[in-house]
Amino acid sequence: MKQMLTAVCLAAMVGGLAMVGGCGGGDEGSSTPTSTSSAKKPSVNAMAVKGALVFKKTCASCHGADGKGMPNNGPDLTASQFVKDTSDEDLLTYVQVGREVPGGVPMPPRGGFTEEMLPDEDIMKVIAYLRNFPGNQP
Ligand code: HEC
Repeated sequence: MKQMLTAVCLAAMVGGLAMVGGCGGGDEGSSTPTSTSSAKKPSVNAMAVKGALVFKKTCASCHGADGKGMPNNGPDLTASQFVKDTSDEDLLTYVQVGREVPGGVPMPPRGGFTEEMLPDEDIMKVIAYLRNFPGNQP
């Protein structure tokens, strides 16, 4: 059920309605870093919503505004076996380092942004956003 709500919120985001609705807004006050691993994690929602915004600014140019990838550029990140198989921590490292692709299009470190422009916290938000897609859940 929680998952459903998140999907609706993200869909609203994509539709540009986030500012109108209260998607994740109620969680803001109590948002603590992902320290607790209990079933109730209100901060994850808020993180994912923020992550969608960061994604648009820093990843969408190659992976598409909807994250579904672009031809000859960034692959689909909404249903990625790689994301599915990789822990959040390892994904953080992956995005920090990027991936060389001999003879192909590389994934640039931090998508080509500096640490100042795209700090680790923001990458974690993007990862929370990506993790919400059912195709990325282990
Ligand atoms: C300049 C273009 C570009 C930008 C910006 C970019 N990427 Fe990528 N990304 C790529 C390319 C190209 C690949 C595929 C590399 C390969 O073929 O192995 C990739 C691969 C990935 C993968 C691995 C997917 C898989 O299934 O193997 C992840 C995860 C990823 N990017 C996340 C991100 C995130 C998060 C951001 C934003 C912070 C971002 N990328 C920004 C070009 C980009």
